[in-house]
Amino acid sequence: MLRNINLIIEADYAAMSKKAADIFAREVAGAPAGVFGFATGSTPEGMYAELAKQRADGADFSGITTFNLDEYHPIQPDDAQSYAYYMKQRVFDPLGIVRTNLPNGTAPDPVRECVDYENKLAIAGDMMMQILGIGNNGHIGFNEPGEVFAAQAAYVPLAQATIDANARLFDDASQVPRHALTMGIHAIMMAKKILLLVSGQGKAAILAAALTGPITPQVPASILQLHPHVTVVADTAAASAL
Ligand code: PGA
Repeated sequence: MLRNINLIIEADYAAMSKKAADIFAREVAGAPAGVFGFATGSTPEGMYAELAKQRADGADFSGITTFNLDEYHPIQPDDAQSYAYYMKQRVFDPLGIVRTNLPNGTAPDPVRECVDYENKLAIAGDMMMQILGIGNNGHIGFNEPGEVFAAQAAYVPLAQATIDANARLFDDASQVPRHALTMGIHAIMMAKKILLLVSGQGKAAILAAALTGPITPQVPASILQLHPHVTVVADTAAASAL
């Protein structure tokens, strides 16, 4: 059963990206100075490219404030694998966004950095929409499967499944940072709306588990079943087990 979840299935990655971009752009048009949550990863790349096209056609994203879900730690912001670099190249510069927040991958005290990030989120006020992807293991942000849902932003060890999945972006798996800073489940769940993008057969089983299985910290994305306004944009392959 899909509780509270608006499921949109598109034929392929391109159509999924276009649909997600349209949904996001409409939300920004309704709250041009709003706070929005961003995600990195392969899945939203197409959506960001679509949004850049929309900007070229006159859409204005310059008034929003953004918070990213996560960042590796330690990592330099000019490292091509950092999420800071990804966001600058693919999102902030192309979309003309200047008020941006990411956990600081160079923070000398990563635990303190998480407290500061949580405070920044609280001060920023209502997040209008949080973009999410889902990990092969069901993670959202770097909230990895565990015994409990971690409410607050946290400095976390990456799950082996995440290290393996992300190794494709590095020279080899040994280069993948072993830790990360992540927004917690509370801040994600406090967003007024969630936009979850999912693509490919490889995500089909975990998407079905997240949306229709038990709500459990072993599948962190399953908590989204309790959110009042989730839109999932999936391609046919990712939706094939639903
Ligand atoms: P991906 O990552 O979009 O690169 O598959 C998703 C995630 O790990 O949240």
